[in-house]
Amino acid sequence: ASNRTFTMIKPHAVADNHIGGIIAMIEAAGFRIVAMKKTQLTPALAGKFYEVHKERGFYGELCEMMSSGPIVPMILEKENAVTDFRTLIGATNPANAEEGTIRKIYAKSVGENAIHGSDSDENAAIEGSFFFGVTEQY
Ligand code: CMP
Repeated sequence: ASNRTFTMIKPHAVADNHIGGIIAMIEAAGFRIVAMKKTQLTPALAGKFYEVHKERGFYGELCEMMSSGPIVPMILEKENAVTDFRTLIGATNPANAEEGTIRKIYAKSVGENAIHGSDSDENAAIEGSFFFGVTEQY
Protein backbone atom coordinates (compact mmCIF):
# COMPACT_ATOMS: atom_id res chain seq x y z
CA ALA A 1 0.00 0.00 0.00
CA SER A 2 1.03 3.56 -0.58
CA ASN A 3 2.31 5.36 2.50
CA ARG A 4 4.13 8.45 3.62
CA THR A 5 7.51 9.79 4.62
CA PHE A 6 8.74 13.16 5.82
CA THR A 7 11.65 15.17 4.43
CA MET A 8 13.18 18.61 4.67
CA ILE A 9 15.60 20.37 2.36
CA LYS A 10 18.31 21.76 4.63
CA PRO A 11 19.38 25.44 4.89
CA HIS A 12 22.59 25.24 2.82
CA ALA A 13 20.74 23.58 -0.12
CA VAL A 14 17.95 26.18 0.04
CA ALA A 15 20.54 29.00 0.18
CA ASP A 16 22.32 27.55 -2.86
CA ASN A 17 19.08 27.54 -4.93
CA HIS A 18 18.71 23.76 -5.05
CA ILE A 19 15.02 23.53 -4.01
CA GLY A 20 13.91 22.99 -7.62
CA GLY A 21 16.64 20.49 -8.50
CA ILE A 22 15.93 18.40 -5.40
CA ILE A 23 12.14 18.44 -5.86
CA ALA A 24 12.57 17.45 -9.52
CA MET A 25 14.51 14.33 -8.40
CA ILE A 26 11.86 13.53 -5.77
CA GLU A 27 8.99 13.78 -8.27
CA ALA A 28 10.92 11.89 -10.98
CA ALA A 29 11.34 9.04 -8.47
CA GLY A 30 7.56 8.74 -8.18
CA PHE A 31 6.84 10.53 -4.92
CA ARG A 32 3.72 12.69 -4.67
CA ILE A 33 4.01 15.88 -2.60
CA VAL A 34 1.26 15.78 0.06
CA ALA A 35 2.36 18.89 1.99
CA MET A 36 5.12 21.46 1.48
CA LYS A 37 6.21 24.89 2.74
CA LYS A 38 9.22 27.14 3.25
CA THR A 39 9.87 28.00 6.88
CA GLN A 40 12.71 28.51 9.39
CA LEU A 41 13.34 26.74 12.69
CA THR A 42 14.55 28.48 15.83
CA PRO A 43 17.44 26.67 17.58
CA ALA A 44 14.93 25.53 20.25
CA LEU A 45 12.56 24.04 17.66
CA ALA A 46 15.46 22.34 15.87
CA GLY A 47 16.43 20.91 19.27
CA LYS A 48 12.92 19.56 19.72
CA PHE A 49 12.79 18.05 16.23
CA TYR A 50 16.16 16.29 16.73
CA GLU A 51 15.58 15.43 20.42
CA VAL A 52 16.49 11.74 19.79
CA HIS A 53 20.05 12.91 19.04
CA LYS A 54 20.46 15.12 22.12
CA GLU A 55 23.17 12.98 23.71
CA ARG A 56 25.24 12.96 20.51
CA GLY A 57 28.36 15.10 20.16
CA PHE A 58 27.03 16.76 17.01
CA TYR A 59 23.66 17.82 18.54
CA GLY A 60 24.62 21.47 19.14
CA GLU A 61 26.13 21.82 15.68
CA LEU A 62 23.09 20.09 14.14
CA CYS A 63 20.58 22.43 15.84
CA GLU A 64 22.64 25.49 14.89
CA MET A 65 22.93 24.38 11.26
CA MET A 66 19.23 23.45 10.93
CA SER A 67 18.13 26.86 12.28
CA SER A 68 20.67 28.89 10.24
CA GLY A 69 18.27 29.65 7.37
CA PRO A 70 15.03 28.64 5.67
CA ILE A 71 14.20 24.98 5.10
CA VAL A 72 11.60 23.24 2.93
CA PRO A 73 9.75 20.51 4.87
CA MET A 74 7.52 18.13 2.91
CA ILE A 75 5.31 15.09 3.42
CA LEU A 76 5.68 12.62 0.53
CA GLU A 77 3.58 9.66 -0.58
CA LYS A 78 4.59 6.53 -2.50
CA GLU A 79 4.60 2.76 -2.09
CA ASN A 80 7.31 1.90 0.47
CA ALA A 81 7.87 5.62 0.99
CA VAL A 82 10.34 5.50 3.91
CA THR A 83 12.64 2.86 2.43
CA ASP A 84 12.50 4.11 -1.14
CA PHE A 85 13.14 7.68 -0.06
CA ARG A 86 16.22 6.68 1.95
CA THR A 87 17.51 4.92 -1.16
CA LEU A 88 16.87 8.07 -3.23
CA ILE A 89 18.72 10.38 -0.80
CA GLY A 90 21.71 8.08 -0.19
CA ALA A 91 23.94 7.61 2.85
CA THR A 92 23.98 10.21 5.67
CA ASN A 93 27.65 10.87 4.97
CA PRO A 94 27.90 11.97 1.33
CA ALA A 95 31.33 10.32 1.11
CA ASN A 96 29.41 7.00 1.27
CA ALA A 97 26.44 8.06 -0.90
CA GLU A 98 25.78 6.14 -4.11
CA GLU A 99 26.07 7.84 -7.53
CA GLY A 100 22.81 9.45 -8.61
CA THR A 101 21.50 10.00 -5.07
CA ILE A 102 20.38 13.42 -3.85
CA ARG A 103 23.15 13.57 -1.25
CA LYS A 104 25.82 12.51 -3.74
CA ILE A 105 24.82 15.48 -5.89
CA TYR A 106 23.90 18.15 -3.31
CA ALA A 107 25.49 17.31 0.08
CA LYS A 108 28.66 19.06 1.22
CA SER A 109 29.42 17.10 4.41
CA VAL A 110 27.76 14.81 6.97
CA GLY A 111 26.28 17.89 8.67
CA GLU A 112 25.41 19.78 5.49
CA ASN A 113 23.93 16.71 3.83
CA ALA A 114 21.26 18.54 1.81
CA ILE A 115 18.17 16.66 2.95
CA HIS A 116 16.55 14.74 5.80
CA GLY A 117 14.54 11.54 5.44
CA SER A 118 12.53 9.78 8.16
CA ASP A 119 13.94 6.43 9.28
CA SER A 120 10.61 4.66 10.06
CA ASP A 121 6.86 4.92 9.43
CA GLU A 122 6.37 5.91 13.07
CA ASN A 123 8.93 8.74 12.87
CA ALA A 124 7.53 9.86 9.50
CA ALA A 125 4.14 10.45 11.17
CA ILE A 126 5.69 12.23 14.17
CA GLU A 127 7.95 14.42 12.02
CA GLY A 128 5.20 15.25 9.51
CA SER A 129 2.85 16.39 12.28
CA PHE A 130 5.66 18.55 13.74
CA PHE A 131 5.32 20.83 10.69
CA PHE A 132 1.86 20.20 9.20
CA GLY A 133 -1.71 20.05 10.51
CA VAL A 134 -4.24 17.57 9.12
CA THR A 135 -5.83 20.31 6.99
CA GLU A 136 -2.47 20.91 5.24
CA GLN A 137 -2.05 17.32 4.03
CA TYR A 138 -3.54 16.62 0.60
P1 CMP B 1 19.46 13.75 9.23
O1 CMP B 1 18.95 12.69 8.31
O2 CMP B 1 18.76 15.06 9.19
O3 CMP B 1 19.38 13.20 10.74
C1 CMP B 1 20.29 13.60 11.73
C2 CMP B 1 21.39 14.45 11.23
O4 CMP B 1 22.50 14.58 12.06
C3 CMP B 1 21.95 13.88 9.96
O5 CMP B 1 21.01 13.99 8.92
C4 CMP B 1 23.24 14.65 9.79
O6 CMP B 1 23.07 15.86 9.08
C5 CMP B 1 23.59 14.96 11.23
N1 CMP B 1 24.78 14.20 11.62
C6 CMP B 1 24.88 12.88 11.71
N2 CMP B 1 26.14 12.54 12.08
C7 CMP B 1 26.83 13.71 12.18
C8 CMP B 1 28.18 14.03 12.50
N3 CMP B 1 29.07 13.08 12.79
N4 CMP B 1 28.53 15.33 12.51
C9 CMP B 1 27.62 16.29 12.21
N5 CMP B 1 26.32 16.04 11.90
C10 CMP B 1 25.95 14.76 11.88
